[in-house]
Amino acid sequence: MLPPDARVPVQFPPPMRAHTLANMRDHLAALAEIQQALADGRWDAAADTAERRLGMSSLHDHGAHEVARFMPPAMQAAGTAMHRSASRLAVAARDAGATGDLRSAQAALAGLTQTCVACHAGFRLE
Ligand code: HEC
Repeated sequence: MLPPDARVPVQFPPPMRAHTLANMRDHLAALAEIQQALADGRWDAAADTAERRLGMSSLHDHGAHEVARFMPPAMQAAGTAMHRSASRLAVAARDAGATGDLRSAQAALAGLTQTCVACHAGFRLE
């Protein structure tokens, strides 16, 4: 059985909540595209998707600054961890293209997915 829901409820203004959830669905779509690109050996495509849709470069598009004001500090930190982790994956995927060694890209992908899990375990939107 699942443990009781101990996530911290966070209140966003309704339009921001809808925007955030739409972003989240794009995060999952991006993760799927990255996995497919890695499986196909399309390293640059994997790197571009990681950086643009999830990495530090995505912060502006997501209106992250505006949304961050409504997040408790630990949630902001979880978001930053995700963006950094995606940018690390972008570097590892490009390296894999040069070296043929997929292992560090796989580790970076696992690390990125863990940042999604960590924030979801801690917070929910009301
Ligand atoms: C900073 C915190 C945070 C991070 C990091 C994060 N999420 Fe979320 N995500 C949330 C919250 C909060 C919700 C709403 C959960 C709830 O209210 O039950 C959510 C919801 C979602 C949803 C459901 C969207 C919907 O329409 O209901 C998906 C899919 C999702 N996240 C995917 C991801 C993926 C994939 C990643 C990692 C690449 C990720 N998220 C990273 C906080 C985060």
